Amino acid sequence: MSYTHILVDTRGRVGLITLNRPQALNALNDALIDEIGLALDGFEADENIGAIVITGSEKAFAAGADIGAMAGFSYMDAYKGDYITRNWERVKTCRKPVIAAVAGFALGGGCELAMTCDLLIAADTAKFGQPEVKLGILPGAGGTQRLPRAVGKAKAMDLCLTARFMDAAEAERAGLVSRVVPADKLLDEALAAAETIAGYSLPVVMMIKESVNRAYESSLAEGLLFERRQFHAAFALEDQKEGMAAFVEKRKAQFKHR
Ligand code: CAA
Repeated sequence: MSYTHILVDTRGRVGLITLNRPQALNALNDALIDEIGLALDGFEADENIGAIVITGSEKAFAAGADIGAMAGFSYMDAYKGDYITRNWERVKTCRKPVIAAVAGFALGGGCELAMTCDLLIAADTAKFGQPEVKLGILPGAGGTQRLPRAVGKAKAMDLCLTARFMDAAEAERAGLVSRVVPADKLLDEALAAAETIAGYSLPVVMMIKESVNRAYESSLAEGLLFERRQFHAAFALEDQKEGMAAFVEKRKAQFKHR
């Protein structure tokens, strides 16, 4: 499979997707988003892959949806073409965990793409923002929905309404980012986290992703019931027997279904 706007690679049991439109700070067009979808299809089907990392360049994870591509849109173009829909939620539907490794700008659709990932690791150079208001539009790929869930209403309103950028330290304090690392360690750190995840039982990892995501979509009572049922189901797995036997025998678990 050859790609134009992304680089696709594997590192051990980790699939690596690198956004690669340096001339436009990795601005996201439909073709690029479709390529991410194809790469995820491939990694999802690949039994040797247990987790995925999406990253950009030193300067930009992605500076948003491609402004040039949409500048001339009419309402009909946007609505009839269902713009910012096809494959934009593909990361969420991917059953294997996806880590965003963000350096530099993650703005507009770039911030939104990072937020669809399951774990967000930032370089100390990262800058997050939803500056669409400056363009006379609003966020269209989840910025007004995922950002408040991640950082609360006050900060989400601040970012969406003023278009100011949030640095990595503020993003970590606000809960958008799980870790901040020096820029030159970003990829290593993200790959190491992904490799750790890929070493665990894949069905369990998928159950965790599904359960945590359920917390955003349901009431607490429904979410707790969903979690409990998944928890019960885990006892049907050979990997549960292995994980607990390894603990008792004081050895490292060798999970079969990775
Ligand atoms: N779309 C298309 N091209 C973009 C782009 C974007 N979102 N962001 C940057 N570029 C291009 C620039 O046009 C420029 O190209 P040229 O060299 O051909 O002129 C190149 O990338 C480098 O950018 P700058 O010269 O502007 O670099 P800078 O370091 O001075 O500024 C920046 C960096 C602050 C990120 C600035 O580029 C910027 O503000 N970009 C736009 C950010 C934005 O508004 N994002 C939201 C887009 S809308 C959206 O995403 C909707 C949605 O919810 C899905």
